[in-house]
Amino acid sequence: MRVGVLTGGGDCPGLNAVIRAVVRKGIDAYGDELIGFRDGWRGVIEDAVDELTLEAVRGILPRGGTILGSSRTNPFKREDGLARVRETFAGQRLDGLVAIGGEDTLGVASRLHEAGLPVVGVPKTIDNDLGATDRTFGFDTALQIATEAIDRLHTTAESHNRILVVEVMGRHAGWIALHSGIAGGADVILIPEVPFDIEAVCERIRHRHARGRYFSIVVAAEGAIPQEGTMSLSAGEVDEFGHPRLGGIGQRLEQEIERRTGFETRATVLGHVQRGGTPTAFDRMLATRFGLAAIDAVHAQAWGMMAALRGTEIVLVPLADAVAELHTVPPDEYARYDVLSG
Ligand code: F6P
Repeated sequence: MRVGVLTGGGDCPGLNAVIRAVVRKGIDAYGDELIGFRDGWRGVIEDAVDELTLEAVRGILPRGGTILGSSRTNPFKREDGLARVRETFAGQRLDGLVAIGGEDTLGVASRLHEAGLPVVGVPKTIDNDLGATDRTFGFDTALQIATEAIDRLHTTAESHNRILVVEVMGRHAGWIALHSGIAGGADVILIPEVPFDIEAVCERIRHRHARGRYFSIVVAAEGAIPQEGTMSLSAGEVDEFGHPRLGGIGQRLEQEIERRTGFETRATVLGHVQRGGTPTAFDRMLATRFGLAAIDAVHAQAWGMMAALRGTEIVLVPLADAVAELHTVPPDEYARYDVLSG
C-alpha cells in the first residue's frame, strides 16, 4: 500500500516515535511505500511531501518535535480545501493516511472520512483532552516537566517567603495542572473546568501564613477562569480552529494575589517548555504502540478509526467518538484532592 502520514496541531513529545513505528512496520512487515506530508493539513492541501524511508526515521525515537513539521491549518476553512485534499490523494495514489493529532487535526480526519477518504487517526496532545482514549501521548512528558518545575519553585518560594504562581498549559482541560499540582504538592490548583473564587484562593494563602507557612505554590492552567464578575481577563486572538491564544492568567493572579494579601507574589509561565524536548519512556512506549496499531488499522482498512488506550490495552475507536466531546477533568475528581492542598 502507499500510505501517507501527517502530524498536525501543537507539537508534542512522542510524535517521532509514532512516525517511526508506522514507517518501520509499514515497510518491514507490509512492504508499504510511506510518504510524509509537511506541516499537517497544509502539506495535504499543497501536496508538499517527503518520502519516509527507513533511513529517514533512523535515530528519531528520542527526539522531541516532529520531523514532518506541524501547523494548525484547517482545510475546511478554505473553499477548495476538500477538493484539494482529494486531488492530493489521487495524485499521490494514496491508499490510506495516518493523521496524528489532537481534537482539531482528528476533527478534520473524521470529516474527511465522512467524505469517503481512507483515514485513520492517532491521538496526541500534551493536554490529554481527547475523548475515547484514557491517555494521549505527550501528556506524561509535559507532566514530568511541570512537576520538576514546581519542585524547583518550591525551594525558592520557601527561601524568599513568596507566593509563586505557576501557569501551565491546558486551555480547556486541567489535567496537567491537576496532576502536576498534586505530584508537586501545590497549595492551590486552578483548572478551566471549575471557575475559581479569587478571594477563596487568597484566603487559603492567608490561612497558610497564619499557620507559619510563609510561602505558597499556586498552579493554574492557562485556561483557568475566575467566577463571573470577580476578576478581569484580557481576550486574545483566535486560530483557524477558533481557539483563543491564551497566556496571561499567571500574571493576573500575581497582581491580584499580591494586591489582596499584601504578600510578595511572582508568576512563572512554563509555556512551550512543556512541549519541547525528549519524550519520557512512557510516552515513547505509548506512541510506539499507537503507531503499530495505526499501520495495522490501515491494512485492516479500518477507515475512520483511531488507536486508543483503554485501561492497558490498545484498541480502535471511531474518530467521531474521539472528537465528539473533550475529555475534561470531572469536578468531583478535582474536589477529591482538595484535602491535600493548603
Ligand atoms: O494543544 C496543545 C497546546 O499546547 C495547548 O495546551 C496550548 O493552549 C496550545 O497548544 C498552544 O498553542 P500554540 O503553540 O499554537 O500557541
